[in-house]
Amino acid sequence: MTERYWNKITAELLAGTRESDHPFRYATLATVGLEQVPRLRTVVIREFDPEEVQLIFYTDSRSKKMLHIKENNKVSLLFYHPEKLLQLRMEGIAMKERDGGTLARHWSGIKPESRKDYTVSQTPGTEIKGPDQLEYVERDDFFTVINVHPFRIEYLQLKRPNHIRVRFSKDADNWRSEFLVP
Ligand SMILES: Cc1cc2nc3c(=O)[nH]c(=O)nc-3n(C[C@H](O)[C@H](O)[C@H](O)COP(=O)(O)O)c2cc1C
Repeated sequence: MTERYWNKITAELLAGTRESDHPFRYATLATVGLEQVPRLRTVVIREFDPEEVQLIFYTDSRSKKMLHIKENNKVSLLFYHPEKLLQLRMEGIAMKERDGGTLARHWSGIKPESRKDYTVSQTPGTEIKGPDQLEYVERDDFFTVINVHPFRIEYLQLKRPNHIRVRFSKDADNWRSEFLVP
């Protein structure tokens, strides 16, 4: 019964990584570090693997979200499709990619002008006198690939006559699902 909703989730997430104007290209990532204040920000979802159920985003190793992930690797991702009134909420474990070959593959796929996002010499969040005060390094040391392994995904679609809310939870290696009151 719930399989069609799982298929919709994977189809929309894949579309987000393939179509530049799909709303699931972007997600709101929430982290909670030691100070216990949830911090939200937009990230671009670069890859989604429907078999492994795993998502990837890129970031700077010096960013606050990385500090949070080191302190507490449980994160949430929120997706919203305004035309379909479809919301996906995900909870998962964030893990830094360590394999050199994989990192090199991702780095080589980034356009040269976009690589600048990961090569600013100053630490993200540091005060500067103006937007043109940035300096760049030639290296890719700050470029970081994060894998998110969801353990809970909640599908909510608002529609008449009935809104549809389905929770998928990972139990060891199996996903189970239930319909919920919306
Ligand atoms: C459209 C858009 C896309 C963004 N994509 C990313 C991204 O993929 N990775 C990232 O680290 N920050 C991305 N950002 C910036 C973050 O939202 C955030 O401001 C920044 O990473 C610092 O967050 P932090 O201090 O909580 O770590 C994006 C911002 C916007 C507006």
